[in-house]
Amino acid sequence: MSDLLLPLLQRTLPRSALRVAAPPLIPEVRLYLFDPAVMEGPLSHDEAQAVVAEPAYWSFCWASGQVLARYILDHPELVAGKTVWDIGTGSGLAAIAAALAGASVVLACDLDSAAQVAVGENAALNGVRVRVCETLPTADNPDVITAADVLYDRDNLQWLPEWRDKASKVLLADSRVRNLAAPGYELKKTASGRTFPDLNEFDEFNEVRIYESGRHIQDEKKGD
Ligand SMILES: C[S@@+](CC[C@H](N)C(=O)[O-])C[C@H]1O[C@@H](n2cnc3c(N)ncnc32)[C@H](O)[C@@H]1O
Repeated sequence: MSDLLLPLLQRTLPRSALRVAAPPLIPEVRLYLFDPAVMEGPLSHDEAQAVVAEPAYWSFCWASGQVLARYILDHPELVAGKTVWDIGTGSGLAAIAAALAGASVVLACDLDSAAQVAVGENAALNGVRVRVCETLPTADNPDVITAADVLYDRDNLQWLPEWRDKASKVLLADSRVRNLAAPGYELKKTASGRTFPDLNEFDEFNEVRIYESGRHIQDEKKGD
């Protein structure tokens, strides 16, 4: 068990625990995740406040992250031999999937310092190398940017054009924005998933859409 991660989780919920588990859609990846078995009864008021103040997003595998990781593992040619930056990485699932699919360099970014620790621990658990950062390097351009379930924060919509222009391809997975109209992005796939461990989210949040951006999409639009 990770000695680094448990204290970080218990900062949010003192009576919580972690377990190593494989998300249902990605049996080939194991992660340190929230253990629902140790939580008996509803959250107290103080616990609920603590979860809101410091949500341990990294201790869950979000539906969009799972669907995106499955997409990457089923289409390794999207990332093999390429530099991949995963934004809002959380547990690091999509970043780890990219590394397993043969990406040459993987950088996992998250604003949450606990998530940065989680990615390192989860990458080690799966025997892959993933670099970690808080914000995107401004100087470099990756081949591929991946991002799953980051549009729950609508402020992140503003970054879609920048990601599109920075990377040759963006793979974006989302279930929070129903009709995403983002220039240069096209819907490639819809698939079902559930956040793991299950948070019993509304059905609409279990329908994940994968969008791809690519220079070819922008070129086609220019030629219309
Ligand atoms: C709902 S979780 C999704 C985690 C993971 N991608 C998955 O699907 O399992 C969202 C994560 O994105 C991070 N995040 C949100 N906006 C971000 C941004 N602009 N840059 C970096 N990280 C961000 C949050 O800290 C959180 O860890």
